[in-house]
Amino acid sequence: MKSLSFYLVLLVTVCSSIKLPPTFQKCDKTTSNFDDCLGKVIHDALNQLDKPFPEYGLPSLQEAEVPPDVVAEFGNSTYGLRQKFSNYKLFGLTKPNLTKARMDFKTNTLVLNVSFPEIVFRTDYEAEGAVFILPVNIATTFEGLLVKPTFNLVFKLQEYENEGRYFKVVDTDFDMNAENFKLEFKRLAPNKRLNYELNAAINEKGVEIFARFKHLQVFFEPYFGGLFDGLLKKVEIKELFDGV
Ligand SMILES: *[C@@H]1O[C@H](CO)[C@@H](O)[C@H](O)[C@H]1NC(C)=O
Ligand SMILES: *[C@@H]1O[C@H](CO)[C@@H](O)[C@H](O)[C@H]1NC(C)=O
Ligand SMILES: *[C@@H]1O[C@H](CO)[C@@H](O)[C@H](O)[C@H]1NC(C)=O
Repeated sequence: MKSLSFYLVLLVTVCSSIKLPPTFQKCDKTTSNFDDCLGKVIHDALNQLDKPFPEYGLPSLQEAEVPPDVVAEFGNSTYGLRQKFSNYKLFGLTKPNLTKARMDFKTNTLVLNVSFPEIVFRTDYEAEGAVFILPVNIATTFEGLLVKPTFNLVFKLQEYENEGRYFKVVDTDFDMNAENFKLEFKRLAPNKRLNYELNAAINEKGVEIFARFKHLQVFFEPYFGGLFDGLLKKVEIKELFDGV
């Protein structure tokens, strides 16, 4: 039988909110440079997420793994090409070069504009069907390099009570732009030379391909929303900000 003190410890841990990690700075809502401060804090926090903060619900973003049920599948294997991107991983999220934040406490909306020198994303890629009339059946790794991307995120927050005031994310909007997009399929063709040539041809259309696939960015919205929500669940509003 577990002792009473075990349950007491459990009770206290479950009910009480925790403070931000000591390495995360706190900003004062009542100061005029609040948004600048928040941008800096989030920037620093991203830098620190090269390791996880499990007690804050934050995973490491060194190799950010988007949940495996996030899958983009389109096309038709009988008439055309069925394509599937799955198992997304992002590299570079911990190294932004510029982070801007804007928090509106009237509408509880947080806008983030985070720029990076580069972000690599890697997925599994499957294609089945025909190109021209040539049958295709491929499973390979796809790697994309976003050159100087900016991630624009809008988090709609809602306040709720749970023995203290907390925020939760009720909606996330994600939009990204990038200066260039370089792609590589590790093995599109069995033949090395053909693989190289195909990748080179695809790369010439990098910007066009980025535009064509841009709508797929909605797949990342639950991921970013969930990431932020993990922290908000654990830390009371008064521990997030001063002057609230
Ligand atoms: C592919 O599309 C055609 C035409 O819309 C449809 O009849 C067929 O069932 C589809 N095949 C598959 C495998 O989805
Ligand atoms: C950060 O990245 C943005 C977008 O890629 C770029 O315009 C800007 O010059 C960079 N800023 C710094 C301080 O390097
Ligand atoms: C920041 O992101 C918001 C929301 O997507 C967008 O409306 C705004 O134009 C962005 N600002 C900059 C400087 O990129």
